[in-house]
Amino acid sequence: MYKKLSFTICSLFLFLGFTIIAQAKDFDISAYGGSPNGDITEALTKAWTDACAATEASKVLVGAGTYNMNAVDLKGPCQAPTIEMQVNGVIQAPADPAALKGVDQWVKIGYVNAFTLSGTGTFDGQGPAAWKANDCAKNPNCNWPTMNFGFNFINNSYVRGVTSKDSKNFHVNVLSCNNFNFDGFNVSAPGDSPNTDGIHIGRSNGVSVANTNIATGDDCVSLGDGNTNVTVVNVTCGPGHGISVGSLGRYNNEQPVSNVNVKNCTVSNTMNGVRIKTWPGTPGDITITDMHFQDIIMNNVQNPILIDQEYCPSNQCDKSTPSKIKISNVSFENISGTSQTQEGVVLTCSSGVPCSNVTLSNINLTFNGAAVTAKCANVQPTITGTAPACAA
Ligand SMILES: *[C@@H]1O[C@H](CO)[C@@H](O)[C@H](O)[C@H]1NC(C)=O
Ligand SMILES: *[C@@H]1O[C@H](CO)[C@@H](O)[C@H](O)[C@H]1NC(C)=O
Ligand SMILES: *[C@@H]1O[C@H](CO)[C@@H](O)[C@H](O)[C@H]1NC(C)=O
Ligand SMILES: *[C@@H]1O[C@H](CO)[C@@H](O)[C@H](O)[C@H]1NC(C)=O
Ligand SMILES: *[C@@H]1O[C@H](CO)[C@@H](O)[C@H](O)[C@H]1NC(C)=O
Ligand SMILES: *[C@@H]1O[C@H](CO)[C@@H](O)[C@H](O)[C@H]1NC(C)=O
Ligand SMILES: *[C@@H]1O[C@H](CO)[C@@H](O)[C@H](O)[C@H]1NC(C)=O
Ligand SMILES: *[C@@H]1O[C@H](CO)[C@@H](O)[C@H](O)[C@H]1NC(C)=O
Ligand SMILES: *[C@@H]1O[C@H](CO)[C@@H](O)[C@H](O)[C@H]1NC(C)=O
Repeated sequence: MYKKLSFTICSLFLFLGFTIIAQAKDFDISAYGGSPNGDITEALTKAWTDACAATEASKVLVGAGTYNMNAVDLKGPCQAPTIEMQVNGVIQAPADPAALKGVDQWVKIGYVNAFTLSGTGTFDGQGPAAWKANDCAKNPNCNWPTMNFGFNFINNSYVRGVTSKDSKNFHVNVLSCNNFNFDGFNVSAPGDSPNTDGIHIGRSNGVSVANTNIATGDDCVSLGDGNTNVTVVNVTCGPGHGISVGSLGRYNNEQPVSNVNVKNCTVSNTMNGVRIKTWPGTPGDITITDMHFQDIIMNNVQNPILIDQEYCPSNQCDKSTPSKIKISNVSFENISGTSQTQEGVVLTCSSGVPCSNVTLSNINLTFNGAAVTAKCANVQPTITGTAPACAA
């Protein structure tokens, strides 16, 4: 009897212990002076500092309501084995770009492991004033406005549920992360907002973007140099410029890109569908390999399938020397829908290093009801099933 009771008590303590371990300790910004309609820059920073220093799983909470916030730079490494930031309210950046002058990222999070950003909230970059002042298309020395998010040097982490709205520049920049996952994230900005790329990924391994809607004024997802093992799945894109690998090859010391899988996505009313772009006349000599684009629906897309190794916006390069970037092992499979142009498939590879092992398989794209044509240079795609043959 005594034995049995002590066993039960022991189990109860064990159970309680596990419950406490399983439940994160909350660090609500309201306990740090943060309140709706106020400025929470300091409250959020302090809550993060304490949550990060906690020895148990911790959670920073921003409840319902609308808040103002200036730039925050939330850093690890953290003591907490896991750290979550749950935002259920709307957080607004200063509308005046001058208030964030010189700040590259409004919400900068870095050097953490096992981080989760969650909630039903919205990060509103209040971009319109910055978009109006943006002259970066014409002025190479322009002052780049502030991005909504920078996720830098983060491992084994998630972004779920929240929305990034009207960023002044790119919505999200992912740099040097490992196993970083967007799931059920949303990006929303008008189709004519300049440079508002959805998610830009650089120098990372194992980034995935899943179940995410991206409506914006530039690339929905863009991959810079040094990325490996990237997955984009169940993503809807549009308006915007599509899903893009590159541009690459403009700068020295770039790293190769490999193993990119884009699957089950819908791209609507965009400039491009899926594309790979590299600069000619520039130093880059890396490789791009293992790029797979599968089960994609295009709705009214200007250039649904595009490899462009003569990418040279505003004639900022010397087109007479070809791109040095070697592209290989690329497949486009089961891509259907409508194109805004007759040449729905354009594969312009480098005359210096032609593309190798490019496959077009079951491509059913139409322009005005008829199958699109394909234009190819320095590539001989393998065609399986139905797909347009390269025009002579
Ligand atoms: C993330 O992983 C990289 C590579 O394994 C490691 O060098 C780095 O210290 C890790 N960062 C954190 C914050 O755990
Ligand atoms: C994301 O966007 C889709 C469509 O634009 C919408 O239906 C969904 O509710 C949004 N999700 C969140 C969490 O806002
Ligand atoms: C990419 O993923 C594969 C399979 O999981 C792994 O073997 C490889 O090491 C990863 N690449 C890098 C650069 O870590
Ligand atoms: C894609 O969406 C389907 C249907 O909602 C879901 O079953 C599947 O798990 C999703 N894939 C990923 C990788 O989330
Ligand atoms: C593809 O993604 C859509 C959402 O964009 C989802 O409804 C559908 O179930 C997904 N299909 C598969 C096979 O994952
Ligand atoms: C082709 O892609 C569409 C859209 O993602 C999908 O619904 C369909 O199941 C795919 N077909 C095959 C044969 O995989
Ligand atoms: C061509 O690329 C495919 C992947 O798209 C790969 O499975 C195949 O082995 C490659 N073939 C050669 C000869 O490299
Ligand atoms: C292309 O794929 C084949 C088969 O998987 C592989 O042997 C080859 O190394 C790949 N090419 C490159 C440049 O990675
Ligand atoms: C191609 O798509 C059209 C509609 O966009 C459809 O009517 C036709 O059956 C499809 N063809 C094939 C071979 O799947």
